[in-house]
Amino acid sequence: MNIKLVEKKVSDINADILIEFLTKDELSGHKEIKTLKSAGFKAEQDSTCFLYEKGVLLCGVDSKKGDDIRSAAACMIKILKSSNYKSAKVIALSKSSLAALVEGIVLGGYEFNEYKSEPKKVTLKSISIASNEPEFSAFETIFKEALIVANATCFTRDIVNRAPQEINPQTLSALAQKLADENSLECTILQEDALAKENMNAMLAVGRASIHGSALIHLAYKPKKPKKVVSLVGKGLTYDSGGLSLKPATSMVTMKMDKAGACAVLGMIKAVSELKLDIEVHAFIGAVENMVGGDAYKPDDVLVSRSKTTIEVRNTDAEGRLVLADVLDYAQDAVSADYIFDFATLTGACMIALGQYTTGLMGHSHKLKHDISRAGSDTGELISSLPFNKHLKKLLKSEIADISNTASKPYGGAITAGLFLDKFIRDENKKKWMHFDIAGSAYTETPWDCNVYGATGSGVRLMCGYLKSL
Ligand code: BES
Ligand code: ZN
Ligand code: ZN
Repeated sequence: MNIKLVEKKVSDINADILIEFLTKDELSGHKEIKTLKSAGFKAEQDSTCFLYEKGVLLCGVDSKKGDDIRSAAACMIKILKSSNYKSAKVIALSKSSLAALVEGIVLGGYEFNEYKSEPKKVTLKSISIASNEPEFSAFETIFKEALIVANATCFTRDIVNRAPQEINPQTLSALAQKLADENSLECTILQEDALAKENMNAMLAVGRASIHGSALIHLAYKPKKPKKVVSLVGKGLTYDSGGLSLKPATSMVTMKMDKAGACAVLGMIKAVSELKLDIEVHAFIGAVENMVGGDAYKPDDVLVSRSKTTIEVRNTDAEGRLVLADVLDYAQDAVSADYIFDFATLTGACMIALGQYTTGLMGHSHKLKHDISRAGSDTGELISSLPFNKHLKKLLKSEIADISNTASKPYGGAITAGLFLDKFIRDENKKKWMHFDIAGSAYTETPWDCNVYGATGSGVRLMCGYLKSL
């Protein structure tokens, strides 16, 4: 489906159907109020009503602000895709809501049909967004940038949604290499022998029972005179069975999404390079599969991580933090960055704390938390801060090693996981680092907002918004 911005009055565009967003306040003054009343349309947020003879699709919204438009546009596009209309048109309401309109259409209309033998037929071919404002070029810039970010989010979703027999550390590396080739990024991939030379024993232990070799992927986007340097680190568990601390059968289903942090940072660097931002961005991915087998790592093992910190393994299902411990350490040596952000589907506890829609944000800098929260409000991604404290930190104490990979009490599990990662952040980088737990927000089995079944691509819109603001 083609989505375009057209410099015309909406009445001058030819299309099968006109989309109109309507608030409850506007409903009473609507020309077709009688028909709408008899159809039971109350302009509730995310409700829709066709006026077939007029060629209009009305979409209820609580307000004309971005968040409401994004959600309503997502509902609208699903209805249109199941109709027989070929073309649609809609007015660009304002500069401030245009990106949300584009995101609602692209992300709400996203479908992952790779494994269907007969993909659904969609008649809808094009949506024209009309703007004949004097500042059309400003609208055009917003439109183009929103499309880049939305498409990068779909790119992330596409990889996360792929089945684990298809995406393993090696095929994920090949996808990263392909992205690097297409977007002129630098790409370095460390295979297991190189990881061993780097003493990345925590990461290697997690992947040892897998038939697929673990890999560290490093992509770099380097503009000429960057304003800032940012390292993005992603948890890339292409499958998390739990290892010997095996997950219960029902919890294992969906664990192909444990690579969502890695796929998000791929989407981010793709978008940043297409937006041509003046920011040097490095993506570091720990690509590993957590499996069972004769040589699997075990609860009771003590691992010597890259930073030489020794780790007592008490649960092999707390594997993401082991991989990130080594990748974060490597990233801090590889690049002297202004910011270090890691994205990981790290804990079920984050979902319990914040619900399944919200990303948990952890770190030491109040300013960074504030700026990132603002980027969340601007881009419509839900994020909430989870505070560290010294009492929770003590729960990671090990009797036989420097730290345990699980806390001695289950409460505050998202925070203790964040505090585990903190152990591998060097003092000079503490204020530069933020950890994003996307366990809840990265994947959904019920649609919400502009998210459809499966991967959401969470983090991509947020980080693009934040990096653009730098
Ligand atoms: N990948 C999981 C976390 C997860 C759970 C993500 C549910 C998305 C949905 C992670 O590796 C894990 O298993 N964490 C354990 C930690 C525990 C053993 C301390 C968890 O959350 O139960
Ligand atoms: Zn796990
Ligand atoms: Zn995991």
